[in-house]
Amino acid sequence: MCGITGYTGPRQASRILVEGLKRLEYRGYDSAGIAVQQENLANDGSIELTVIKQVGKIAALRQAVPKDLAGHCGIGHTRWATHGEVTQTNAHPHSSCDGRISIVHNGIIENYQALKEMLEHSGCSFKSETDSEVIAHLISYHYDGDLELALKAALKHLKGTFGISCICADEPGRIVGARNGSPLVVGVGEGEMFLASDVTAMLAHTKRVVYLNDGEVVSLWPHEFRISDSDDQAVDPKIDHVTWELDAIEKEGFACYMEKEIFEQPDSIERALKGRMDFEYSMAKLGGLNLSKKELHAKQRVRVIAAGTSWHAGLVGCHLIESIARLPALAELASELRYRNPVVEPETLYLSVSQSGETADTLYAMREVQRRGGTVLGICNVVGSTIARESDGGIYVHSGPEIAVASTKAFTSQLAAFYLLTLSLARMHDMSHHEGAVFLQQLRDIPGLVKKALEQRDRIQVLAKKYAHNQDFLFLGRGLLYPIALEGALKLKEISYIHAEGYAAGEIKHGPIALVSPETPSVFLVPNDHLREKTITNMKEIKARGGPVIAIASEKDTEVAAIADDFIPVPDCDSRFQPFTMIIPLQLFAYFCALELGKDVDQPRNLAKSVTVE
Ligand code: F6R
Repeated sequence: MCGITGYTGPRQASRILVEGLKRLEYRGYDSAGIAVQQENLANDGSIELTVIKQVGKIAALRQAVPKDLAGHCGIGHTRWATHGEVTQTNAHPHSSCDGRISIVHNGIIENYQALKEMLEHSGCSFKSETDSEVIAHLISYHYDGDLELALKAALKHLKGTFGISCICADEPGRIVGARNGSPLVVGVGEGEMFLASDVTAMLAHTKRVVYLNDGEVVSLWPHEFRISDSDDQAVDPKIDHVTWELDAIEKEGFACYMEKEIFEQPDSIERALKGRMDFEYSMAKLGGLNLSKKELHAKQRVRVIAAGTSWHAGLVGCHLIESIARLPALAELASELRYRNPVVEPETLYLSVSQSGETADTLYAMREVQRRGGTVLGICNVVGSTIARESDGGIYVHSGPEIAVASTKAFTSQLAAFYLLTLSLARMHDMSHHEGAVFLQQLRDIPGLVKKALEQRDRIQVLAKKYAHNQDFLFLGRGLLYPIALEGALKLKEISYIHAEGYAAGEIKHGPIALVSPETPSVFLVPNDHLREKTITNMKEIKARGGPVIAIASEKDTEVAAIADDFIPVPDCDSRFQPFTMIIPLQLFAYFCALELGKDVDQPRNLAKSVTVE
């Protein structure tokens, strides 16, 4: 969703701001802009704010910014419209009536209408239809020579969520920011400072960062920064070191980030497992859970809270935990859990699963559970993200930055985390040392199997050419492969805009079979266990009604290959681990269909990488 950048230092601010915004493109946006403090040489050399905004891609903004735009301090923004249409006027930054103060804002100001009326009454004239513009006018209303004090006074009026960054023409070199519910990170450089909603915006310049907490306000100058909390007390900042490398946010020769991230999975899964497989005790080493063995053992049930792809990983995880560790486990959509007045029991272990660690639905649901005394562990990718910090402990999945909007490598890393957690829980209950050792060996082989599954690339590209022009698809699987069918359908619809339904294969005769026709292909995930025969029966039911069938099954399964119209083999492995091998062809299929249809694979329409609004 919206992104923020800020820079103060000796370099040309506009360049750094636009370059930072380019790094934030992946979050999803529809317009962008910057505001820079600039000396007015024609006049008396006093500082003025130059604001430049454009609808569309960062490339358009870059074109609009004069190459020689001077100024060493500024703020930038990518907007994903919530209040008001996608127009240049509604794009950020927004400015006070006198143009001396400019702000950028992520989040939503719930009481903006009342504030707007109050400000209009006092003489302010509004230019945009956004909720954010009230912030600029409020700060201006309270301004008396100190931007931080004015922002703090303005915050007292605001209801809602925000990450705010602002500058004032009267305070050269100073940026002030505030956080409540939308992330803000300070980047500490040598004689220069950065402020952004996401570390990727500053990774090219510094890896020393300070994550702001809700309620905190920060003032930045080139050589120093100062943070205070909601009680106005100075905060001793904790400087973290980002471990992500710049390479990780480059395309490195791939056509797009999604392709790169799909092919990175043997390595990203390896990272998720690294140092966590204890062969001596046939256990997983999960140091961040912050629960003693006794406390973990005492948990009687597991509940996953998540959205989208992370929820699909949670469905796989719950299936594993229930069938292998023998604890009742359910994965629930965060957006549903929060509003249904859930019963929270102390003996239930809650797992909040999120790639970004910022998804509003997941965060609010998790807070609801914590408010009722529940213990919530986070399974997150982004270090220092809100969910990671607010959970009671957890597992980082270490997939590295995921830039493409469609989640791929984070999903398989989340799966890896669930396999490790399943092992831990199972070994605490009735899994033997020997069974644990076999499970670990199989888990260790997963990166190699995923690498082999990726070798089907060319075959899948050919199939995508054949099928991409169909309007509707069914994705069908049973057991552990049912969530993989859901994930395959989600991947296809989000990047190629083809309608796809994921269904439990056993459920099709209860309704969806009515959709089957020669124009509606079905993608079947055929396991190699007790559910294989039943899945083959479902395949035959579809074939009997003239529906084309693409089957994905073990490379050894000649029977399935013979029944299906098209067959994608995956490396043979224990069926408990087939989610890893089966998701690969589905990711590739969605990717190649989107390419075939000429879609923007990395930034699909209407979608944002990190959904920070409900
Ligand atoms: C799908 C996708 C989304 C996210 C969902 C949750 O490819 O990316 O469905 O999975 O918005 O996001 P996180 O995992 O960041 O909480």
